Amino acid sequence: MIKDLWYKNAVVYCLHVGTFMDSNGDGIGDFEGLMRRLDYLAGLGVTTLWLMPFQKSPRKDDGYDISDYYAVDECFGHLGDFVDFTHQAKQRGIRLLIDLVVNHTSDQHKWFQEARSDPKSRYRDFYLWSDKKPKDAEKGMVFPGVQKSTWTRDKVAGAYYFHRFYDFQPDLNTQNPAVQDEIRKIMGFWLELGVDGFRMDAMPFVIQGKGIEEQHVEHYTMLREFREFLQWRRGDAIILAEANVMPKLNLSYFGEDGDRLEMMFNFWVNQRTFYALATGDARPLARALDQTRDRPETAQWAHFLRNHDELDLGRLTDDQREKVFEALGPDKDMQLYDRGIRRRLAPMLKGDRRRLECAYSLMFTLPGTPVLRYGDELGMGDDLSLPERNCARTPMQWSTEPHAGFTRADKPVLPVIDDGPYGFRQVNAADQRRDPSSMLNWTERLIRMRKEVPELGWGEFEVIDVKNPGVLVMHYEWRNNSVVTVHNLLDENLEITLPFPQKLTSLFDTAHSEPDKRHRHHIILEPYGYRWYRAGGLGYILDRRSY
Ligand code: NOJ
Ligand code: CA
Repeated sequence: MIKDLWYKNAVVYCLHVGTFMDSNGDGIGDFEGLMRRLDYLAGLGVTTLWLMPFQKSPRKDDGYDISDYYAVDECFGHLGDFVDFTHQAKQRGIRLLIDLVVNHTSDQHKWFQEARSDPKSRYRDFYLWSDKKPKDAEKGMVFPGVQKSTWTRDKVAGAYYFHRFYDFQPDLNTQNPAVQDEIRKIMGFWLELGVDGFRMDAMPFVIQGKGIEEQHVEHYTMLREFREFLQWRRGDAIILAEANVMPKLNLSYFGEDGDRLEMMFNFWVNQRTFYALATGDARPLARALDQTRDRPETAQWAHFLRNHDELDLGRLTDDQREKVFEALGPDKDMQLYDRGIRRRLAPMLKGDRRRLECAYSLMFTLPGTPVLRYGDELGMGDDLSLPERNCARTPMQWSTEPHAGFTRADKPVLPVIDDGPYGFRQVNAADQRRDPSSMLNWTERLIRMRKEVPELGWGEFEVIDVKNPGVLVMHYEWRNNSVVTVHNLLDENLEITLPFPQKLTSLFDTAHSEPDKRHRHHIILEPYGYRWYRAGGLGYILDRRSY
């Protein structure tokens, strides 16, 4: 077993070029600006960037509607800037994942334009058509309340086309071998330009039978074929899939022998992490960790708190979801698509630093690889006056200069948050880097610590029962080393009794703990307190017999 797979212990940071840093004063972030901020990211300690779509696009779904897979959208720069940027990232040892959005194209893509206007075009079968409106056209919408149908009539084609998402995003017929060829070509292109892998958008829909007939049949062999292609072209490139699926399907996605996807976001655990944060009850989270335990050794979970979409709570029970809504997003305006919350994390947790630290520390100690969202290292907020998911996509807050130093333009691409407790005068990177106790500096220390604890990415874990559902205690073992993490989800001082034979050396402070004669630790936790302990002393040596 190769023990140095880079993604097993990466720290991923995701951002949108368009809202990160504008270098030329047109109000839109660009590659040149992002390049100037690479030292900030390197200093924070992240090892991998995930860039949301930056290819040519009408941008009606924040770039998830691509009209040319081979071009950088002019508003962000050009291919030369992109290559310059990847080179600069590499110089700093930072890897790069980019979004691969091939479930659908924009309706402005030339494939769709040709397909709709000429039934004999070779692109006709790139999409899914029906002369009549299919019976189930009002079913299976991903954006209920905003999207009305999954089949829309195209006047030019004189037929209905299938779209799982918005009507301007016609689904590609991914079972068509010619489409699969195109997908490989797109991957190959960006690999040559220096990316280390892809965050594959909407993976379950990519591999599902589409159109009228064979929906809900998954073609898992496609996953192996993608992987084989990727690894033939570049051995250490990976796929990180967006796949919000039931645990029983995990091994079908990873492959029983680890021959399919390298990584998937763990949505199952994510929803129960929020349940734990909302209610102080960690039991469903502990169960979810167990339900998603099985994976091939080379496969990895990506753990996250918030992302660029709504916090999707669709896989909780109605009762659990109601409790999360009540605690973290009670107003209708904070909720979205009948299933989620569209706020950023800091306002959800009422800006309470103790809760924020507990939440991030918890996420960073889950079995897998942590994924941070830009601005979360500062505790950025949201702007609920913006539509749908845009509320949590406002520009990065760099300083107290106009528009938070994001742009010199009068009008940024999305408004910068400028008043209230999350306004850029209160929350910005420049001030926080001068304050040793800031969220930014705390996050930097957290990242440093995560890198020093590879057991979390590689190890076997168990949840230790401490007879209090408000406290999650986990124990990891890997190569003769062992680590214990403790998170108090309650707003209470409490004492736990933790059965563990060895001395526990605290990694963030000097609150070490010795077991009593019966091998029990008595640990006092402050409200939302957390601890990372190494079993025994600090002088740990990895057992390096195998690589
Ligand atoms: C998932 C992406 O995360 C989301 O932002 C997008 O709207 C849909 N896929 C459609 O591409
Ligand atoms: Ca710009």
